[in-house]
Amino acid sequence: MARAAAAWAASIVFALPAFAVDFDDVADMLRLRCAGCHQQGGPAPFALETFQQARAWASSIRRVVAAGAMPPWHADPRYGKFANDRRLPAAEKEKLLAWVDEGSRPGAGSAATAPVNAADRSSGWRIGAPDLVFELPEKVTIPAAGEVPYHGYRVDTKLPEDVWIQAAETQPGNAAVVHHVIVQAFPGSGAVAPAGGDPRTVGDLGGYAPGTGPLIMPAGVGRRLPAGAVIDFQMHYTPTGRVETDRSRIGLVLAAEPPRYESRTALCSTPFLWIPAGESDVRFEAELVFPRESRLLSLRPHMHLRGDTFEFRAEYPDGVSEVVLRVDGYDFNWQTTYRLAEPKPMPAGTKLRCVATYDNSGDNPRNPDPTRDVSWGRETTDEMMIGFVDYYEVE
Ligand code: HEC
Repeated sequence: MARAAAAWAASIVFALPAFAVDFDDVADMLRLRCAGCHQQGGPAPFALETFQQARAWASSIRRVVAAGAMPPWHADPRYGKFANDRRLPAAEKEKLLAWVDEGSRPGAGSAATAPVNAADRSSGWRIGAPDLVFELPEKVTIPAAGEVPYHGYRVDTKLPEDVWIQAAETQPGNAAVVHHVIVQAFPGSGAVAPAGGDPRTVGDLGGYAPGTGPLIMPAGVGRRLPAGAVIDFQMHYTPTGRVETDRSRIGLVLAAEPPRYESRTALCSTPFLWIPAGESDVRFEAELVFPRESRLLSLRPHMHLRGDTFEFRAEYPDGVSEVVLRVDGYDFNWQTTYRLAEPKPMPAGTKLRCVATYDNSGDNPRNPDPTRDVSWGRETTDEMMIGFVDYYEVE
């Protein structure tokens, strides 16, 4: 009896630390790591801003967080370090799982009811007050249902002289219907943005995709927007069941004086794609050489619905090579720009080799038609292979 009581007492002692997590302990984490997407009108299908919302979703949260499916992040963890890595550090993951396992208890403080994301939402521009704002030339009406084809909207900046971009933030006018936006700048004088990018591309201006933060240049680096440049907004809309309107925009913070280094976008790309119907592992390669000593800033793989894997490998002049980024199970829904934690040296002569594979079989759940041969094209039912590479030269 005495022994049993002692064991019982001991189990209480051991049980106590286990019931240590309430909503106060996870509210900040939800705000920082989840509510950027999970907010009213945000890209995720429901909000995780209040205790009530989080509790209602607790068992799903447990499942997707334990599986590593949320927060979404698709880079192979073996390679590279990225500034915008969304994965939960192990300690946070444990804490969130514990909160669910212990019965998703409310906190003692006001966190129990306060919207966790209120402060973020009121701040307007995350890059600070922009010097220039360009919006879509017109309000776009999106039908209630059906597939809305990709459409590019061009805005003439009418800039009288070159300016230097330090930060750029694309904001959806209506986040419920804007799936993603690719924003690029092209030289003016009537130049037209062709499908699939072009060597004349001045630069990727970051665009917008669920959870992607603004483009912010490191100190001493800027992106030139030349006099008369045209900004191209590639809009991908997904109907919501109601007729919606949108007027998305981009805000630019300019550098007061020309920076030391100019950041550019190069494309690691091939248009010669032929992906036979039903084939599951069709591979293409492209390469990009850095003729002068450079620093790599960010990478963005771009394929469409048959895209499966995309790898960037740096082959250095001394014969050593390493994978800089690898994405498996590519998902068109996430147009993620992978921003390197530190600008990465690319000695003169380094070759960036890009390898993409496509799955045009019925096993690919995203494949709209496994009986069709597919080649390069602008529609998501056609294909592309583009590695967008942001870098600057230091010589
Ligand atoms: C970058 C945006 C983004 C972030 C950050 C994010 N989510 Fe999500 N989440 C989504 C989207 C979009 C969906 C719906 C589509 C999907 O499942 O991919 C979703 C779906 C979910 C679901 C439903 C899954 C299901 O199968 O029903 C849960 C639960 C969830 N998220 C929890 C979280 C939690 C918890 C966090 C933070 C630790 C988080 N998410 C961070 C975008 C995000």
